[in-house]
Amino acid sequence: MEITINKIKVEVLESETIMEAAHRIGIEIPHMCYAPGAEHKPSCMVCMVKNVANGQMIPSCSSMPTEGMEIETEGDDIREMRKMSLELLLSDHRADCEAPCVIACPQNLNVEGVLYHYDRGEYWEARKLMAAVFSLPEIACDECKGPCEKICRRGTVDHHVEIKAIMRELADMTNLEVVGNPAEAETKDKSKFVSKIGRFSPKEQEWLKVSIDVKSRCIHCACSARHECKLRSYATAEGIKTPRFGVSSSLPFKIKQHVNGRLWFEPAKCIRCGLCVYNSKDGFTFKGRGFGLQVVVPDESRNNVGEELAKLCPTGALYLD
Ligand code: SF4
Ligand code: SF4
Ligand code: SF4
Ligand code: FES
Repeated sequence: MEITINKIKVEVLESETIMEAAHRIGIEIPHMCYAPGAEHKPSCMVCMVKNVANGQMIPSCSSMPTEGMEIETEGDDIREMRKMSLELLLSDHRADCEAPCVIACPQNLNVEGVLYHYDRGEYWEARKLMAAVFSLPEIACDECKGPCEKICRRGTVDHHVEIKAIMRELADMTNLEVVGNPAEAETKDKSKFVSKIGRFSPKEQEWLKVSIDVKSRCIHCACSARHECKLRSYATAEGIKTPRFGVSSSLPFKIKQHVNGRLWFEPAKCIRCGLCVYNSKDGFTFKGRGFGLQVVVPDESRNNVGEELAKLCPTGALYLD
């Protein structure tokens, strides 16, 4: 059977969806709840394309072609629909992509990364990040007024992290002679989607006060999947800066469940695409309905899932530590 995608004639293989045919000829269609070769059910509506004959928008990941069909994958109306789908996903997603201290630092220092290594006693690694942006790490933050401290989210819980003092402590470790490598510096891409969920709920504040007992007291705001997250990269591609429905989540910040091995689950980052549900047997499952729908992994099912699920997850909800 022959169809046309973006005016290119395509011979469609048996049981091939529109998206599969498009991908085969090099036309990329964004998708969140679909992964090649995995079980899925359409839910995200990010993969919408237009059936030119009747102007209908259809999900390309699950729509089968018919003889002579003409499909468009780009165009203002299609992008508007895709953008709307992404904004709806973002509206109930804990999109703490970047740590505020990192955004605020005029030197582009990966402050949160430095604190991460500091907390683990990996002073050498912390100094490496400093040396990547400061030609003289010994005087790293001395001349700076510390906008990172002013914006630190720990400050909304009790008191900001003493970033400058920690940088000084690291700078004073003269036994750590580290030569800078600018390749390790984080690049600040201004076009990248960055959202900030401002306030913690009173309950979250209480939890953060007692649960974060690392040396620096940093709550490590950034998302561990910020460089791989599809939701973020599609939002960036669609020019979404401030989602029109806001960015929030009914689920709490940083509450994580250890699934097994290196696999962790952070429910507030889940967009309920179902990929982990349909691709684990007696593992992840849906709970509730409608707006209250959640993805959960009951304790007795944790060992029924494998670490490979992290690769399927389109956000930072499932990740390997
Ligand atoms: S004090 Fe240091 S880490 Fe903080 S914003 Fe200034 S240069 Fe960056
Ligand atoms: S809590 Fe840590 S990661 Fe968050 S803004 Fe403060 S220093 Fe940065
Ligand atoms: S945790 Fe599962 S349902 Fe949630 S976004 Fe990841 S793959 Fe989808
Ligand atoms: S990828 Fe098609 S509906 Fe989600």
